[in-house]
Amino acid sequence: NAIVGGVRAVLGHVPASWLPGGTPDPLIDKRVALGRQQSRVDGPDKVRGAAQFAAEVPMEDLLYAAFVHSTIARGNIADLDVSAAEAAPGVALVMTYRNAPKLGVPPTVGLTNLKAAGNHTLPIMQDPEIRWNGQVVAVVLAETREQADHAATLVRVRYDSAPARTRFEEGKNSAYTPESILVERNRLDKGDARRKLAEAAFKVDAVYRTPWENHNPIEPHAATIVWRDGKLIVHDATQMINATAGSLAKVFGLKADEVHVSSPYVGGGFGAKAMWDHQILGAAAAKLAGRPVRVTLSRASMHRLVGGRMRTEQRVALGADAEGRLKALLHHGYGVKPRHSVCDEGFSLTGRSLYASESFDVVQHYVDLDLLANSFMRGPGETPGTFAIECAMDELAHALGMDPIELRRRNAATRDPVSGAPHSQNAMMEAYDLGAARIGWSRRTAEPGSRREGEWLIGMGCASGTFPFTRMPGTSARITIDGNGDAHVASAAHEMGMGTATVQRQHAADRLGLPLDRVTVTIGDSSLPFAGLAGGSSQTASLAAAISAASGKLAVQLMRLAGNDTPLAGLKPSEVEFADGGLRSVDDPARHESFASILRRAGRSELSVVGESGAPLEILKFSMHSTSAIFCELRVSDVTGEIRVDRLVGAFDCGRILNAKTAASQFKGGMIMGLGMALTEETLLDERTGRIMSTSLADYHVPVHLDVPDIDVLWTDIPDPRAPLGARGIGEIGTTGVAAAIANAVFNATGKRLRDLPLTLDKLI
Ligand code: MOS
Repeated sequence: NAIVGGVRAVLGHVPASWLPGGTPDPLIDKRVALGRQQSRVDGPDKVRGAAQFAAEVPMEDLLYAAFVHSTIARGNIADLDVSAAEAAPGVALVMTYRNAPKLGVPPTVGLTNLKAAGNHTLPIMQDPEIRWNGQVVAVVLAETREQADHAATLVRVRYDSAPARTRFEEGKNSAYTPESILVERNRLDKGDARRKLAEAAFKVDAVYRTPWENHNPIEPHAATIVWRDGKLIVHDATQMINATAGSLAKVFGLKADEVHVSSPYVGGGFGAKAMWDHQILGAAAAKLAGRPVRVTLSRASMHRLVGGRMRTEQRVALGADAEGRLKALLHHGYGVKPRHSVCDEGFSLTGRSLYASESFDVVQHYVDLDLLANSFMRGPGETPGTFAIECAMDELAHALGMDPIELRRRNAATRDPVSGAPHSQNAMMEAYDLGAARIGWSRRTAEPGSRREGEWLIGMGCASGTFPFTRMPGTSARITIDGNGDAHVASAAHEMGMGTATVQRQHAADRLGLPLDRVTVTIGDSSLPFAGLAGGSSQTASLAAAISAASGKLAVQLMRLAGNDTPLAGLKPSEVEFADGGLRSVDDPARHESFASILRRAGRSELSVVGESGAPLEILKFSMHSTSAIFCELRVSDVTGEIRVDRLVGAFDCGRILNAKTAASQFKGGMIMGLGMALTEETLLDERTGRIMSTSLADYHVPVHLDVPDIDVLWTDIPDPRAPLGARGIGEIGTTGVAAAIANAVFNATGKRLRDLPLTLDKLI
């Protein structure tokens, strides 16, 4: 994964317990609150409607923004007439490149700079040039949202069009210019794979395609923005709070502490809730108008302005001996990445970690088109990558006449197949055992098309999922012990619905030896200690590392305050542990003093410490990946070609599970995204014009309740000794492998091998 590569460049403080040879985190086993089912602390406010989302923050004198989007992909604005819009009812101003304030280009997101959030490198409303179809050419501010939307329709723009590159096939032939480092990515040539493929007794060699996809969180992007005394205040919906604040400071030439971003609740993110042009344009327009501005992107504006997943075309060739052992794994392909785009969708990294092949030949090419920048989306890289690799594995099993689980068992990697690094923990085959038992895999018939109920052909399929572990260096947490001895944790971390505060409250309670009701966790504001983005399935580990580091400092500080007049007198910080709301001797549990007593005797009303996650050096020594086994049972109508997924089972091997309820919810959500990817989701791009045509939920189909079958979620719950709390990430892995399991089940049901997503019924009749 690209994220891991970035993190490797950064060093910092790392708790010794996670280094090779170090002692694993004691909370792997010593758990009271952790591991339990626990409802989300933010749940009651959300259910009551009391949780305030970015577009709901009340503000006096508010103006509403609407965007006018370009209708060409490349060229210049030749003529711009905003007079009718300016004269429309309620309009306060119209901002275009002619009157927009001077804006810097935001620094771009990346793990070597966790304080940046930009997704592209283009100027924003600074000149008449058009760089993609959908770029914002005018911002209308009005007293109501409806007035702004109406006036936006009155803006007249005439363009001088220039030739644009908007066709994937043409782009494949030109790709990038040779000097670009983006021509080739992830090249791996190990063990003479082409020869081994040619000589293999059994082989498959096929091309798989995944389409353009767009983000569709329940809450479209929104921000309520106000300038107060020269400071910029943004109530945002973001999974990059500090990074957005830092980037806005750069764009507007402000000091870091002159931008405040608050984002306590996010209505779904999945990679998209980052900084795109809308916060910048909203803040610029607010500055120009001298009034607060609310930006709430329509679905159409979202699709034109916030990137989605790139289209991919992947060739996978597998060669095996008669026992099914992989001799060669070739993974070649094209993806689209406009030159100005930041997101790196490394689908070709997937096949390097899953199976012990004797040889590898891997390379990925990026096509440069005049389109909106890509976004990180629901397991970028691994999600399209597992579709190709895991369908190919199914094809190989069929060619060998072997059960697909058995094929994976024979090729299960016992260490990293490329680097040779040992796994920190890996029990993917145990996940297969759990999942196979749950779905009743023994009922599957190997012969495709051999199970039928009336017009319905019934089939089962399976596939592996994978996602790498990482942590975000610099992620920090403050622990404050108050006079009552209660603990308050604070960090600028993010809540997109996954239960961030809930799980870290469980963690802090166990870490500090407190009951749950004596711990609070506050997140979601840039004024709190720095947190890296909620991305790469890494926030839980990052925050856990920060809280753990803070707890170490806390013990030292408390011992200093405790002095000599304490039952703990004479002990070193390493000789005490947190227990029963205080510190006690490791050797003699009777020697104990409570936090409240230590603070009272020291005349302190509270004590605060900040701890920080260092760089994840453990991934330099260990191969650390969450893995899964996904199972599907479905039926296909031989009259209409309709696919009905009856069951999905996901068995996950992600280390320790920290909260059964929030984890199950996250896995299921991810699997539903995989279901959408498999069956319905496709952004319709008019390749003649670079125009996205599917800009509503009527055109872009995400699964609704009736589309979603029974989903069973299971886990191995085997601790990873190298990960904080024994837990690797669970955020993105739910989606990986699902589309392949469904496509493989379609083949088992019908004998038709579909290699192009989505699996729509026209492809089956
Ligand atoms: Mo994830 S695609 O890093 O939100």
